[in-house]
Amino acid sequence: MRDGKLVMGQIGCGGFAHDQDLPNMKARGDVIVKFCCDPRLEAAEAAARDFGGEKAVADYMEVLGDPEVDFVKVSTPHDMHKDIVLAAAARGKHVFCEKPMAMLLADCWEMIRAVQKGGIKFCVDMNRRMSPALQALKRRVAAQIAAPKHNPWRYIEMTREPLDEEMKTNFLIRVQDESSSYRMVHLDPAHGGGLVIGEVVHWLDLACWFFAPARPVEITGWGSARLSHGLNVLFSDGNAATIVFDATGTFDFPKERYEVTSRAALFQSLFFVENRYWGMDGEERETFPLQFDSYADRVPGEGFEAFMAKTRERQRATATGNMKDNWGALGVDKGHRAMLGGFIEAIRTGGQSPCDEMAGMRAVLLSNLAIGAIREKRAVAVPVDLYEPVFA
Ligand SMILES: NC(=O)c1ccc[n+]([C@@H]2O[C@H](COP(=O)([O-])OP(=O)(O)OC[C@H]3O[C@@H](n4cnc5c(N)ncnc54)[C@H](O)[C@@H]3O)[C@@H](O)[C@H]2O)c1
Repeated sequence: MRDGKLVMGQIGCGGFAHDQDLPNMKARGDVIVKFCCDPRLEAAEAAARDFGGEKAVADYMEVLGDPEVDFVKVSTPHDMHKDIVLAAAARGKHVFCEKPMAMLLADCWEMIRAVQKGGIKFCVDMNRRMSPALQALKRRVAAQIAAPKHNPWRYIEMTREPLDEEMKTNFLIRVQDESSSYRMVHLDPAHGGGLVIGEVVHWLDLACWFFAPARPVEITGWGSARLSHGLNVLFSDGNAATIVFDATGTFDFPKERYEVTSRAALFQSLFFVENRYWGMDGEERETFPLQFDSYADRVPGEGFEAFMAKTRERQRATATGNMKDNWGALGVDKGHRAMLGGFIEAIRTGGQSPCDEMAGMRAVLLSNLAIGAIREKRAVAVPVDLYEPVFA
C-alpha cells in the first residue's frame, strides 16, 4: 500500500495484459502498477512504458518478494497459473488470476488450499458474469419468474395447470468465432488444452452463476473437444443451459449471443451492447455503453445496429491504410473492469470475491467433465462431492 493506493504487479505482459489489464489498472485512481513482469523482458518493458509501470522485470519471484506489493494479476498462459498462485499465496499476496484457474481439477484443489492457508483474496477473471448486459438479463429473467407478465393480447389457456416443462428456464449461449484467432498453443493438450478449457470455461461459469443456487447435475456434449462443439448442462432444478461454440464463423459478425426463454417470454442479449425482451408488457430494449469507443464521433448511438455501424467503419478504415494506424479502439463491455473493481473492493473491505477460488474450480471441473462427455458421446454426471467438495 502506498498513499492509500494498492500496489500491484502485472505477471504476464502479453495480449490480454495490453488489451484489458493494464488499461483498466491505469484507468483507476487507486492502484499503482509497480511491476510489469514477463520473461520476454522486451514485453515487460513495453508494458511498463505504455501504461506507466514503475519497473520491468523478467522473474515473477522479484514481484512476489517486494513487501510493498498488495496484489498480482496473473495473465500468463494457463499452465503457469498454478505455480504463480501457490508462490503468491505463500507470500500473502492477493491474486487476480486469468481464466481458466488451472487446467486440471487436482491443481485447483492445491490452489484452493494455498489461498485459504495464505488468507488471501483470490479472483478468477470469469468476466462475463460481471458484464452490465448479462447482469441486466439475469435480473430481468428473475423478475419474470417471480411475477410473470405478459402482453395484454396474449392468449392464455386457463383450463389446465402448466406442465412441468413449461415451468423451466432454458439459457442458450451461441458463440461463433474464427479459428484463425487461436494459436496452435491454444489447441495443444499440454498447454492450451483446447477450446473447452480455454474458452468455453467462461460460459460454463456463466451458466452456473445464472442458475445458482441450483447446481449442475449432468452434461451432454457433441462435436470436438478441441474446436467446435456443443454442450447441454442440466441443473438440479430442471433448468438447462445449451452452449453452442463454432470455430468456423467470421469476425465480421459479433461473437456472442445469449437467449433465455422462461414463462412465455424471450430475453436476448446481443453481444453485450443491447438486450431485447419479448412477450412482456413494458420495456423491450436496453442498451449498454461500449468499454472502448474511438468511433463515437463518427458513428454516434448505442445498441446493436450502432455497434455494427462502428464495426463497419473500423473495417473500412483498416482496409484503406496501415492497420496499426487506423485500427481505432472499439470494444464492448464484457465485465473485465467490473471484475477488477469487485476484486479490489474485496481486498479493501474483506468482503466476498466476485469469482472466488471455488467458482474457479467449478468451472474447471465442468470443463474437464464436458471434454469427457464430448469424447465419450454420453451424458456425464456432475458429482456433488466434486462440485461442492469439503476440505479437511
Ligand atoms: N478473460 C478473458 O476474456 C481472457 C481473454 C484473453 C486471454 N485470457 C487469458 O489470459 C492468459 C494470457 O493470455 P494472452 O492471450 O495474453 O497470452 P499471451 O501469450 O499473449 O501472453 C502471455 C504472456 O505471459 C508471459 N509469460 C509466460 N510465462 C511467464 C512467467 N513465468 N512469468 C511472467 N510472464 C510469463 C509470456 O511471455 C506472454 O507474454 C491466458 O490464461 C488466457 O486464457 C483471458
